[in-house]
Amino acid sequence: MKLVLSTSSPSQLETECLVVSVLDQGDAKNPAPLVQTSDAALLALAKPLIDGKELTGKAFEQLFLYSPQGMKAKRVLFLGGGKAKNYSSVELRRVAGAAVRAMKPKNIKTFALLAPETWTGKGDPEVHATFAFERGGLTEAVRVIAEGIVAGNFDADYYKSDRKDQQVNDATVVVPAKEDQIALGASLVEGVNIAESQNFARDLVNEPGNKMTPVIMAERAEKMCKEVGLKCEIYGPEKIREMKMGAFWSVSQGSDEEPRLIVMRYEPAGAPEKPVLGLVGKGITFDTGGISIKPADGMEKMKYDMAGGAGMIGAMRAIALLKPNVRVIGIVCASENMPSGKAQKPGDVQIAMNGKSIEIINTDAEGRLVLADGLHYARQLGATHLIDAATLTGACVVALGYTNAGVFCNDEEYFEQFAEAVKRSGEKMWRLPVDAEYEELIKSDIADIKNTGGRWGGAITAAMFLQHFVEDTPWIHLDIAGTAWIEDSRPYIAKGPSGIPVRTLVEFARLLAKK
Ligand code: BES
Ligand code: MN
Ligand code: ZN
Repeated sequence: MKLVLSTSSPSQLETECLVVSVLDQGDAKNPAPLVQTSDAALLALAKPLIDGKELTGKAFEQLFLYSPQGMKAKRVLFLGGGKAKNYSSVELRRVAGAAVRAMKPKNIKTFALLAPETWTGKGDPEVHATFAFERGGLTEAVRVIAEGIVAGNFDADYYKSDRKDQQVNDATVVVPAKEDQIALGASLVEGVNIAESQNFARDLVNEPGNKMTPVIMAERAEKMCKEVGLKCEIYGPEKIREMKMGAFWSVSQGSDEEPRLIVMRYEPAGAPEKPVLGLVGKGITFDTGGISIKPADGMEKMKYDMAGGAGMIGAMRAIALLKPNVRVIGIVCASENMPSGKAQKPGDVQIAMNGKSIEIINTDAEGRLVLADGLHYARQLGATHLIDAATLTGACVVALGYTNAGVFCNDEEYFEQFAEAVKRSGEKMWRLPVDAEYEELIKSDIADIKNTGGRWGGAITAAMFLQHFVEDTPWIHLDIAGTAWIEDSRPYIAKGPSGIPVRTLVEFARLLAKK
């Protein structure tokens, strides 16, 4: 998909469809639609719709006009942006996503979207004050519009033989001519790179288990690394055993598919020795549960158990393209979790790479096992700051549903910084505790720790387990079990893989580079 900027006046723009957002400045009883343009022809078109109360500005409301008077565009779409007082970059990104998704059923291949202009100071000062593009004004707006459009254009239906090619090919973002076009253009490219990397991760996650084995996942990572200029090393079973990654190997030993340890490195010339950000992803390409086998109902979903790993691969791609001045190492522990005559059994004791002994209570708690060695290895390679992402626990889904990912952190300052990245990315996350009192729950009678902590607080005991492998290194654990897969399509994004946490990780790497 190609995105370009234009400074054309809206009425002069030749396009299949011109999309104009409309906010609601009113209260629940009295909607007061605010069309996000100063173009007289567009305002004239909107007037009868507003007077007739057809156009209210309600979130994702759509009103198409054909052969609109006074316009060169073939169609105009008025697209609701919701309450003006809540309008921030999160909502703007979604409006952009909804715009591209509104084109698809009509088979419109190219459209233009007006970037908001009222917030620049014109219009109602009260409304202006509420627009939260705090950081870079219109530059920020253009970036999130690009992200929304590219992410919104993604659909995961390519195994259907009657697939209609629903991709939108081109989009134009219309901005005021008085703004710095070079800065806006750079911001547009950033947004495209970030969202294309998010889509790259979504592509990996979407593949079923037979088409996304650990070997294939490693090949895909390697190919990407070559394309964007990252160093990449791939290791198989011998090396995993030789490095004494006993926790990782215990999961892989039951499968006929070989595991892969994927190591990607971003080392920009001139970057300081420290910090080194270590990104560690769970790459279980299929999770049957192993000997503690899962029920058949819904097991097919466990093809997305590599979403954390895919997220790290996508994040590395974006980082390589955006070039923040900070070192980053990406590690993915890719494996199947299968029952077989060679599979590990409940009660087995495994020795992790850091020497800790682990009693296996449930072979379905495999994510924490592969991450244990991945996290330790990241520290060995020099990571001074860690982030892991994993579809780790059903308990996290019970706690936070499909809306927020769980965040766990062992360092307050590190968390503050991460929270800033979350704000910028628009990906929703909510903090859960790591607290020494939960430690009791993962004590083992015969080993240092056991791999499950019982029924209650399951997302937390999983995090407590991981903490044994990071020691004092500032560390963030993201449990994305509920957010890696979107169960129902939304106006701005397709059903299927979400690509979380690619955007947050990119933002975080950039923040770390500035420090
Ligand atoms: N991959 C699952 C967690 C999961 C659940 C991901 C739902 C996505 C959606 C993980 O490996 C797992 O099986 N966790 C167990 C842990 C338990 C045995 C302690 C769980 O959550 O039930
Ligand atoms: Mn499992
Ligand atoms: Zn799993």
